[in-house]
Amino acid sequence: MNNFAFYNPTTLYFGSGQLEKLTTEVPQYGKNVLLVYGGGSIKQNGLYDNVLTLLKQVDARVVELSGVEPNPRLTTVHRGVELCRSEHIDLILAVGGGSVIDCAKAIAVGAKYDGDFWDIVTRKAVGTGALPLGTVLTIAATGSEMNSGSVITNWETKEKLGWGSPHAYPKFSILDPAHTVSLPANHTVYGMVDIMSHVFEQYFHHVANTPVQDGFCETILRTVIETAPRLVNNLQDLDARGTILYCGTMALNGVLSMGIRGDWATHNLEHAVSAVHDIPHGGGLAILFPNWMTHTLEANVARYKQFAQRVFNIDATGKTDRQVAEEGIAALRQFFNSIGAPSRLADYDIDDSTIELMADKAMIYGDFGNFKKLTRQDVVEIYRMSL
Ligand code: NZQ
Ligand code: ZN
Repeated sequence: MNNFAFYNPTTLYFGSGQLEKLTTEVPQYGKNVLLVYGGGSIKQNGLYDNVLTLLKQVDARVVELSGVEPNPRLTTVHRGVELCRSEHIDLILAVGGGSVIDCAKAIAVGAKYDGDFWDIVTRKAVGTGALPLGTVLTIAATGSEMNSGSVITNWETKEKLGWGSPHAYPKFSILDPAHTVSLPANHTVYGMVDIMSHVFEQYFHHVANTPVQDGFCETILRTVIETAPRLVNNLQDLDARGTILYCGTMALNGVLSMGIRGDWATHNLEHAVSAVHDIPHGGGLAILFPNWMTHTLEANVARYKQFAQRVFNIDATGKTDRQVAEEGIAALRQFFNSIGAPSRLADYDIDDSTIELMADKAMIYGDFGNFKKLTRQDVVEIYRMSL
């Protein structure tokens, strides 16, 4: 494995009843709280009321920023930054999914930057500080609750770009599986696809001697594969919700990247699709990942064989390595299909007319991917395979 440094300052409160921790965490930062949330799911499931009750107990003054979009937009970040300044906000509290948390991270860092926050996303400037951020997570998917990344969409320029800053780690995140029970089937599935995709991004590398990292990755993948059918059949299954919630955090809190460098090409491909078509992130990944795998198989057949055997128990007897590897990729597609994930861009009414535009968006920083460097031609080919 490669040398590495690991840093993750987020305090995680996991399990039933942990929302109460708001009463000890929030007062540490001050009175003025910006409560950031999405389109209303937290009002329907009662979480909004519970959060407000606890904030009232500690005499917090609550300012609200609601309506954060799935695939959060730069315009909403701007609104949040303005509120932080005009209302002298001490702490940002994000209650929702990855979109709400990502938006809150951008607001936290943007509030300490004098220019346009988009400069930080586009790497023209670096964030030098942030308002403190706490989160209450309501969907197992992105891992944003315990990492320093965020993805923001500039709808005017049709760009959806990731950015990160060591200042963007949440100070604390509250994860109660009960908060995810109201999540409908489609978003539950997208979340599980996203979790598996984060593992893939960190599993497909060429670094030698990573047995522990491989084992962590394979365990998370097998666990999601075992748990997903149970959860899809019974969205109220709290144990399954908890297992998936824990998988989601562990898949992208930096642990799996110790000693390796992730690929991240498929995420870039998906963000370009979402930038143009505003589709759910996990839905896009379900379509693209098996095709990226087929496209990059030759880069490391042995790695794909290991994946097939250890994650999907593919029997290698009498088969070439390549056959085993291909069966593993086919098993993944079948698994995604079995839980109701989309398999073609056509499922979102996307045809070949926007492939060049999506490729423009994906190529914004040039060739990309660490397992296999993708050129524009590769990008177009993978989109074509996905139509
Ligand atoms: O807006 P509300 O009303 O809350 O509804 C949301 C939204 O419609 C709903 N929802 C969330 N929790 C719910 C619920 N509905 C009922 N009950 C609940 N408990 O679910 C919908 C999707 O929410 P969203 O936050 O968009 O989903 P997700 O967590 O998958 O986040 C997706 C965003 O995160 C980015 C994606 O690109 C996308 O923009 N990512 C962020 C990453 C990171 N920061 O590390 C990494 C990821 O790879 C990803 O790119
Ligand atoms: Zn993702």
